[in-house]
Amino acid sequence: MRKITVGFLGCGNIGCGVWKLLHEFEKDLQHRSQVAFEVKKILVRDISKKRDEMIPAHLLTTEPKDVTDDPGIEMIVEFMGGEEPATRYMLRALQMGKTVVTANKMALALNWHLLQEAAQKHNAGLYYEAAVCGAIPIIRTTIDSLQANRIETMMGIINGTTNYILTRMSQEGSAYEDVLRDAQRLGLAEPDPTSDVEGYDAAYKLSILSSLAFHARVPFDVVYRQGISQVDAKDIAFGKELGYTLKLLAIAKREENVIDARVHPTFIPHEHPLSSVNGSFNAVFLHGHACQDMMLFGCGAGSAPTASAVVSDMLYAASRETPRHPTFRNTNALAENLEVTNDWHCSFYVRLSASDRPGVLAHITACLGNEGISIRNLMQRDAVDGHAQIVLITHNAGECAIHKALEAIDPNEAKVESMIRVEGK
Ligand code: NAP
Ligand code: HSE
Repeated sequence: MRKITVGFLGCGNIGCGVWKLLHEFEKDLQHRSQVAFEVKKILVRDISKKRDEMIPAHLLTTEPKDVTDDPGIEMIVEFMGGEEPATRYMLRALQMGKTVVTANKMALALNWHLLQEAAQKHNAGLYYEAAVCGAIPIIRTTIDSLQANRIETMMGIINGTTNYILTRMSQEGSAYEDVLRDAQRLGLAEPDPTSDVEGYDAAYKLSILSSLAFHARVPFDVVYRQGISQVDAKDIAFGKELGYTLKLLAIAKREENVIDARVHPTFIPHEHPLSSVNGSFNAVFLHGHACQDMMLFGCGAGSAPTASAVVSDMLYAASRETPRHPTFRNTNALAENLEVTNDWHCSFYVRLSASDRPGVLAHITACLGNEGISIRNLMQRDAVDGHAQIVLITHNAGECAIHKALEAIDPNEAKVESMIRVEGK
């Protein structure tokens, strides 16, 4: 039996889940892998805090060096969250030659190049399955099982909190704030839930996933991001009537050397496989030139599912003789062989509040027509206070063209209330 000494950076939601899994499943893990993990030190902010697990007091410390610099600790497992000081502590551990396993997509997406450089320089391992989609093995699937593919599209629900919120808003008509509070209570949300609802969390994950899928660094700052805090329940209801479900999708597409990478609320047809991914579940739908369509589905957030991925990384790291790193040039900039476009193509849902008088519809369709945009569906609701609700869905069109068309609409004729992208048809 090989013994591996471990230090934790953090012991909140995820840390307690990892502690629990390591202990309740200890015998099976040892039997299966011939590895015994011994947690020697745990860094926290507040030693006196009550935790979900009974952690022996002598293991807790508020001194980072007790974990990162202890030569008796071989592996560091990080679930503190945030960019700093987590990045600094992980860099220190790597410089000390320790293996690092992290669940922290923010620190990884923003500082991957620094972490990988330190890991390679000091021959240390860096593993991050838990950073993207909780329990779903999307990282190893992408880098191992799909090696023989040119991945052209990745489209996923990769944030559990927003999917939980949108599902309940859509199914129960619940208010946004109430559902967000429930997501926090369930331990799905980030320490700062703005990261979830404004799409940062999904954008960090998409930066990591698309870099691995395209074998080229796609930095966080090239990912277009729009969250769900401005979503209007009216649009969810109109979309439903027209056959669409609203999801916060993370989308990365590649055509030759041009990519788009974006996170935004998106309508998908009810019959699309991603449409039935509800609650805090995550799923990634991808297309590779050889494997064709594929979807991975599972628990994307929460203590036990995330612990499953963390412990699997610990075992994976323990089983490798040499550390494994991505082979692309990992710098902070977009890979030289790639170009990012903000003029992606999809359909668009538009809701307008229009004056209920002759010629208004003609004006709207002319503005769209001038940009070469054709309408697929159109619905008008009875006027309230002289204003009719017009909802339309376009055929495939360019992002720049729809913006130009909507800007051309005279606000005295019709006011654009919302525009939501539509994918999957
Ligand atoms: P959490 O409950 O807030 O736990 C954070 C832990 O880190 C706490 O134990 C805290 O100490 C400690 N900590 C934070 N800042 C510290 C500092 N400056 N010095 C020392 N200790 C510090 O957060 P969480 O939900 O477990 O998430 C942790 C990480 O896992 C994040 O990177 C998150 O993105 C990632 N993740 C979360 C989920 C999920 O479902 N929640 C899923 C996948 C990945 P105290 O306990 O003393 O406050
Ligand atoms: N806050 C994240 C989510 C945790 O809701 O998906 C999992 O990464």
